[in-house]
Amino acid sequence: MYNFNEVESRRGTHSVMWDCIEEKCGKPNDEILPAWVADMDFPSDPVVVEELTKRIATGYLGYAGGHRDYKRSYIGWVERRHGFKIEEENLLLIPGVKVGINSALEALGEAGEGVIIQSPVYDPFFNITETRGMKVVKNPLLYEEGRYTINFSQLEELAAMEENKFLIICNPHNPVGRVWTREELTRVGEICLKNDITIIADEMYSDLTVKKYTPMASISKEVGEITVALSSPSKTFNIMAFNIANLVAADRDKRERIQRKILATGHGHLNLGGLYGGEVAYRSSEEWVDSVMRYIGENHAFFTEKIKEKFPHVRVSPAEGGFLAWVDLRGLGLPAKEIEERLLERGKILVSQGAVYGLEGEGFIRVNLGGTRRKVEEVVSRIVEALR
Ligand SMILES: Cc1ncc(COP(=O)(O)O)c(C=O)c1O
Repeated sequence: MYNFNEVESRRGTHSVMWDCIEEKCGKPNDEILPAWVADMDFPSDPVVVEELTKRIATGYLGYAGGHRDYKRSYIGWVERRHGFKIEEENLLLIPGVKVGINSALEALGEAGEGVIIQSPVYDPFFNITETRGMKVVKNPLLYEEGRYTINFSQLEELAAMEENKFLIICNPHNPVGRVWTREELTRVGEICLKNDITIIADEMYSDLTVKKYTPMASISKEVGEITVALSSPSKTFNIMAFNIANLVAADRDKRERIQRKILATGHGHLNLGGLYGGEVAYRSSEEWVDSVMRYIGENHAFFTEKIKEKFPHVRVSPAEGGFLAWVDLRGLGLPAKEIEERLLERGKILVSQGAVYGLEGEGFIRVNLGGTRRKVEEVVSRIVEALR
């Protein structure tokens, strides 16, 4: 029903991916094939586009408000797709996942406190923590044969330290592609409960999974009480332009403190695109999401096979979620700087360098596979050209 093999050019459309290449790496936009920032090249579901177009065409573009319809649509989605019931009063709508993480740390934490993060991981976790005057405490993931797991014994030690008060867990994990299992999350929950650690669960990729995703707050009532969970329709339906996210906190005191921060920092208003687009999408776009994930799964399989064929010493981590490939290039024996230069100069391709996600990512690259098969073929051939 949906044709992901054809997309229009996004050059000159205010696309970060296609129009901000020069800002990112100094090369002219039209010389480089972009596979870096995490959005998909596909248009969103036609139903969402049509509904939003109609709404905007009315010309009435004042403050957008009234959260109830969106909230019910989202709650219904989570119940149908993930088998978890969110209480409406526990849900706040905010203009972004990063805004949510920042507001939670600001509302619930103090400068000097430790925030545990599991590197290599989505890089804003570092900046947000440090700008709050808090301390990044690393609990690096364990890596074996291309697959990542949590270092539980170290997590136990770190969680037991008096100064450490938060864990930011990324589930599914960007960039390594793991979807944490219920068993893994249960152990995380137990450790945090025992040590009075607040869990901030970044569940941005929760709807784009191959393996079953388990909401952190669904582990138990007690774990739900110490969790601030963040998710968004933006990645799910490729509507990042509209800045909206869902914050779920079952603990009333925590939720009210966060809400006060959000209002105080001027983040209380949402835009029409997010509020109405998200509502429509959560109600109507299940088939679109399933179709896009099937297509990306095939992209991933194709990419992995071709890279393995050309470079037997390179590993592509199994994709359990998301539309990104995490590629271990260390077997090539090239310094990370040279990999970066070769990809840009020879391959004329822009990907994300692994070291951005913490030192543990050095020698890896993150490649965006959220495009047409033809683009992924081109991505592979440019990587091969650059690194052989
Ligand atoms: C794990 C993760 N969290 C959050 C975000 C960004 O969320 P927002 O734009 O809503 O702040 C991203 C974007 O790539 C992400 O990968």
